[in-house]
Formats: sequence, C-alpha cells, structure tokens
Amino acid sequence: MIVCHCQNITDRDINNAIDWMRASDARTVITAGKIYRALGKAADCGGCMPLFLSTMRGNGNFSVPVLKPTLRQAKPNKETGS
Ligand code: FES
Repeated sequence: MIVCHCQNITDRDINNAIDWMRASDARTVITAGKIYRALGKAADCGGCMPLFLSTMRGNGNFSVPVLKPTLRQAKPNKETGS
C-alpha cells in the first residue's frame, strides 16, 4: 500500500527501513525524518504523516527496547576498595 504519494513510499518500504535501523542500532530513536533519509527521499506536502506515523507504530521494531537493570549490583570489595 502506498503511504506517501508524493515520494511513492509504501508501507513495506517503511517497515523495511525500521527493521534495518533497529538491526543497525538497538537503541536508536526512529523518526519519520530518519526513514525518509534512509530511503533517500524527503517529505513534501506532509499530508501522509498520520498514516506514515501509524504505519511506523505498527512495526514491532519501532520502539526502543527497554533495558532491564540488573537486580543485583556488584558491591565494592571493602578490602581491596574495588
Ligand atoms: S504524501 Fe507524503 S509528503 Fe506528500
């Protein structure tokens, strides 16, 4: 399905870009601008943004994964100070 008619970007293009960005950097914040840039394009009229963002949110790799803190922190050794 074509999401952006000005730049001829499909939902598949958006999902592939998100998957690629997440595989490249697990902690990157993915924005519509980054997707346009990854596809070598730039937004024109902006009329597609609601559907563009909705398509982005529908991708399971869109959100930055939550890094769970370790439950037990290493305590410093009183004898060695480390
Ligand atoms: S429809 Fe996407 S920028 Fe115009």
